[in-house]
Amino acid sequence: MSLSPQNRQPVGIPVGGQFAATNHAEPGIGLGTFASAEEYEAAVASALSAARAYETSDVEEMPDVDFDRLLSRIASYEEANGIEPEHDLHDAIGHGGASGGDVEHATMMKSLDKPGEEAVIEFAAKHPNAVIEPKIDGLAISVRYEDGKMVRAARRGDGYTGEDVTDRVRGVEGLPEMAGDGDYEVRGELYLNDENKEKANAVRAAAGKAPFANARNGVAGMLNKQDGSYAGLFSFAAYSTTIDEKSDHLDSMQQLEGLGFTTARSLLPQSVLDAEDPMAAIAALGAERKGLSFLMDGAVLKVNTAAERAELGEGSRAPKWAVAYKYPAVEEPTVIEDIEYNIGKTGRLSIRARLTPVEVDGSVVEYASLHNVGHLQTADMRIGDTVSAYKANDIIPQVHLPRADLRDEGSQPWQPPSVCPQCSEPFDKSTELWRCHTPECSVSGRIAYAASRDAGFDIEGLGGSIGDALIEADRVKDVGDLFSLTEDQLAELDLGETSTGGTRTLGQKNAAKIMAEIEKAKSQPLNRVITSLSMRFTGRTFGRRLAAQFETMEALQTATVSQLANVEGIGQKKAEVIHEQLKKNEPVIAKLRAAGVNMGAPKPKPEAGSKAPKLAKAGGVPLNVVVTGSVKGAPSLASLSRSGVQELIEANGGKASGSVSKTTDLLVSSEENSSKVIKARELGIKIVTPEEFAKMLEDGEA
Ligand code: IVH
Repeated sequence: MSLSPQNRQPVGIPVGGQFAATNHAEPGIGLGTFASAEEYEAAVASALSAARAYETSDVEEMPDVDFDRLLSRIASYEEANGIEPEHDLHDAIGHGGASGGDVEHATMMKSLDKPGEEAVIEFAAKHPNAVIEPKIDGLAISVRYEDGKMVRAARRGDGYTGEDVTDRVRGVEGLPEMAGDGDYEVRGELYLNDENKEKANAVRAAAGKAPFANARNGVAGMLNKQDGSYAGLFSFAAYSTTIDEKSDHLDSMQQLEGLGFTTARSLLPQSVLDAEDPMAAIAALGAERKGLSFLMDGAVLKVNTAAERAELGEGSRAPKWAVAYKYPAVEEPTVIEDIEYNIGKTGRLSIRARLTPVEVDGSVVEYASLHNVGHLQTADMRIGDTVSAYKANDIIPQVHLPRADLRDEGSQPWQPPSVCPQCSEPFDKSTELWRCHTPECSVSGRIAYAASRDAGFDIEGLGGSIGDALIEADRVKDVGDLFSLTEDQLAELDLGETSTGGTRTLGQKNAAKIMAEIEKAKSQPLNRVITSLSMRFTGRTFGRRLAAQFETMEALQTATVSQLANVEGIGQKKAEVIHEQLKKNEPVIAKLRAAGVNMGAPKPKPEAGSKAPKLAKAGGVPLNVVVTGSVKGAPSLASLSRSGVQELIEANGGKASGSVSKTTDLLVSSEENSSKVIKARELGIKIVTPEEFAKMLEDGEA
């Protein structure tokens, strides 16, 4: 197993920088149920967000397979826990994301039931004259003609009302401006064929935008753009009409074709449905998919006669006179050569399979996302396994459950990494998506460390989820960015969705509090500024030693390796690392400096005859002090963190240590019989209470 190189992009994963930071690694998509109500809510929020993105933007948040899997997990959890859902994710029309528009549909625009093989066979047996046609993967629109002239086109929206897109679909192939002389409606699919997609992507490239991930996303994205930049770059295929409601489906489709419309059935060589064996016709239609220039995601079976249609009628969300069969994704067998890891910017562990390269549906797939540790273990996926590679939603490579029957005898179950492969620290396994929180591994860890009370700038409220949201929103890429945040940016920070689909923001009041904390943080002592950079070997102790030695950030930055090596406990090897990291952090330090963060100041030389520091021995030698237990008993120390007490010791000329040894001069302890106290007693070291120590600092009597 190997750690994947950063910044290497696999085929087909349209993500910058990270190998598998795809959005489908969102809360709770994997297998099984949710461990808690919070996990359930997070899953609902992420499904709602994906549904909304699907409806309203050109960014695909979640591939279809993941979305469907997540919905069924949500539904099982609700059923098991007697939850009456507040969201409308299970509404086939709404899917949580659709919203209405300004055009009222004459009759509701519905969806199709996709009931699975058994029900499809039953439908065909009951309706032997049903017809079969391709299910095109695009977006449904309804187009109104008056006196044969196209007057209005609208999206499906919530089924009752939809957005007016008339001007955006004028000139579209298969959708004539003038067609006959009657008043009627045509419904059909707006989609992209390969040529449309190519042209649309050329428009995007000219505007410096990334190409559309796939054709269906393209339609949604292009339709959302209202400035005419994609005018006419769609295709249209009709699948129903009111042109002659008494006529058979096939006849009315032929009538439309005669008027210049493209119809769904005309797009493919006609398969005849055999009522005895409908799956044969469905398979024959499906076999055409590889060579098509548009996305066909299923087959639709429809009764043909107007009488049958009327007799079967309508369900609340789908007509009863038609059913759809969704094709499984095109898949090809290949082998998992390795399982690779990457730690994302918020510390999330992502896992991918390196595959023997295989061509799937027109492009070579080399890597597939493996979701999370739980998914891999449940699926028992192993290196060397033969798997089926497919492209979820025709773009994101995935692999199916492994073929255990083709497995080598010596094959071993995959073991998740016991520690983070980058920093060797344990993972946070509290959710399905494991995370590494160490500062070395993630921006998230670095921000949390920099905000922490004990080691960093002590910025209350900025660690954890708020820090992560700032990173996700690209507001913060390093510690330096914290100091250029504005109150409005914080107030508007998107903290995800509420369970009812609203946006949760930080709000003005909380933002103002954090701004005040950030302002206060600018005057933290130099040692904390150094430690906040999360450089190796510059934790609290070395942060203090470096600050004491060099006094200013500038002096530290210009120090040579040998000057750094002379600092107690550092030595040549650590000095080289620190030197290199200081160079690497120059831009971050520059941001801190520009924001007015304390960069230290040279200490004034003690004047002749001035008093010795309070915690120094004769000749200014620092008193070696160890503090153990709580210091709360001493009011002047009570508000200080452990680091704060150590900083105070060093500010008074002493040296703070963590353990008692022969070189310890003083032990400050509120405890009577702790191991440190016992050891100090044995060694004859002076022991004082925190109250006595506070007094020493006031009076200067060591
Ligand atoms: S018939 C519900 N025929 O699939 C109204 N629909 O998942 C009757 N679709 O909303 C639809 N190709 O947008 C029909 N040949 C076809 C289709 C088709 C694509 C879409 C349509 C519908 C969705 C249902």
